[in-house]
Amino acid sequence: MGRCARALALAAAMVGLAFAAHGQTPAARLVVQAGAPGPRIAPEIFGQFAEHLGTGIYGGVWVGRDSPIPNVRGIRSDVVAALRAIKTPVVRWPGGCFADDYHWRKGVGPADRRPVTLNAGWGGVLEPNSFGTDEYMDFLSQIGAEGYVSVNVGSGTAEEAADWMEYMTADKPTTLAQERARNGHPAPYRVKYLGLGNENWGCGGAMSTDHYVEEMKRFSHYARNLDPAQSGETATRRIAVGWDGGDSDYTEAVLKAWKSKVYSWDLEGISMHFYAVGGWPPHLPATGFGEDDYVALLDEALTMEPKIARETAIMDRYDPDKKLALVVDEWGAWLAATPGSPKGFLQQQNSLRDGILAALNLNIFMRHADRVRMANIAQMTNVLQAMVLTDGPRMVLTPTYQVYRLYTPFQGATAMPMTLDAPRYAHGAKSLPGVDAMAARDTSGKLWLALVNLDPNTSVPIDAALTGFSARAARGEVLTAPRVDAVNTFDKPDVVVPRPIKVAVQSGRVQLTLPPASVAVVGLEP
Ligand code: AHR
Repeated sequence: MGRCARALALAAAMVGLAFAAHGQTPAARLVVQAGAPGPRIAPEIFGQFAEHLGTGIYGGVWVGRDSPIPNVRGIRSDVVAALRAIKTPVVRWPGGCFADDYHWRKGVGPADRRPVTLNAGWGGVLEPNSFGTDEYMDFLSQIGAEGYVSVNVGSGTAEEAADWMEYMTADKPTTLAQERARNGHPAPYRVKYLGLGNENWGCGGAMSTDHYVEEMKRFSHYARNLDPAQSGETATRRIAVGWDGGDSDYTEAVLKAWKSKVYSWDLEGISMHFYAVGGWPPHLPATGFGEDDYVALLDEALTMEPKIARETAIMDRYDPDKKLALVVDEWGAWLAATPGSPKGFLQQQNSLRDGILAALNLNIFMRHADRVRMANIAQMTNVLQAMVLTDGPRMVLTPTYQVYRLYTPFQGATAMPMTLDAPRYAHGAKSLPGVDAMAARDTSGKLWLALVNLDPNTSVPIDAALTGFSARAARGEVLTAPRVDAVNTFDKPDVVVPRPIKVAVQSGRVQLTLPPASVAVVGLEP
């Protein structure tokens, strides 16, 4: 479809032309069983991942107390406001591969006495250690999120991890708790999630499964939360490393150990990492791509669902009651780096396509909400599929950010089962689902639909029947643009932003037309 025809289709959908305006485009038919609630969608599914990598922390979050960029105690205020607006529930830190190279003691205490080290894994740049534990905790409290601290299992010791937990959580005046108080925080910090290493089958020490499992058990036991107030429901939840991207040996070994555990260590979940890359090394362009690359990346991204199903099936064998969570704590599009950006910084632009990819993945996580109880997109600022990009004092919100903003009502909502009968989107040898959808009911009783039209050439009428729910009124927003590679830039920040979409509610049915390549979220009042 030419740009002009596509722009017309887009305009037609925006003003809500009747289905007949789109000729023979068959409608996608949804039946939402709103009276048959499914699992709760953990807010943590909308979590973030922030690593000491490129300008992910330095520049993207931390600018320093003396910076002319508006900040609170060194943390930039524009980024804080943006992350608050999408109700960021949790931020995983300090890595990634960096976590297994990180020694927390270097990042606490008076700024001028912190050692300068090297970030060996990511560009070999200087690591000033200005952003450490206290700054991370301050950042969390500024954005209103929970912590997910990954301890160093690769090059660290269980003693170091135990000391870190003591520094963060001891409520009694131990030497480390007093040091924390001198550093400005007498009260224990809350540590909701603790990652026991990162990719220890690879950058985290290339450990055999048996070796990792033994280490993981020791770290799980000794890295104790020492604050009695953080127990029971509020206890620290530990997450072990799982799937290595190839076989599921780690998943099996960790689950086997968990199933037969006899002494004081425990897990809340097991992690999984999966990036849509389009072949290693990452080479797909982030901008200026055509439909071949568009379809290839989305096709790969959709394999997240069978991968989750596979891990879930393994987990079900050991844990049929679904006590353990599958934590997808790294995911997203990994593309060719922005030309001219420093090596190892993993900087990439973020297009409408990436927003669509994010929506598809969030829908997948929500469909598996009984098992997937946290997911952390890689990464929050300036790295890979970011929420925000910064350049000195400037900040721009990406299309992926806009999807997270649209999806906030799904945090903590209850998933509703649905059936979907939709046309397919074919391009070359590939055939993808044309439409993806998800429904959930929030705690106020409102029903929400998340709808994705993957087809970049055709509008799709949506005809949704609701059972067990009578919709009185509807309001929707849609994210789209005249081109799938459209991006927001510092100079043009509003190219890919949500706009209102017309939604008709009649006799228990909801009807709207999704523009080509779009993500819509519709709220229905009971
Ligand atoms: O997100 C970038 C890197 O990807 C992480 O550091 C690592 O865990 C993964 O391989």
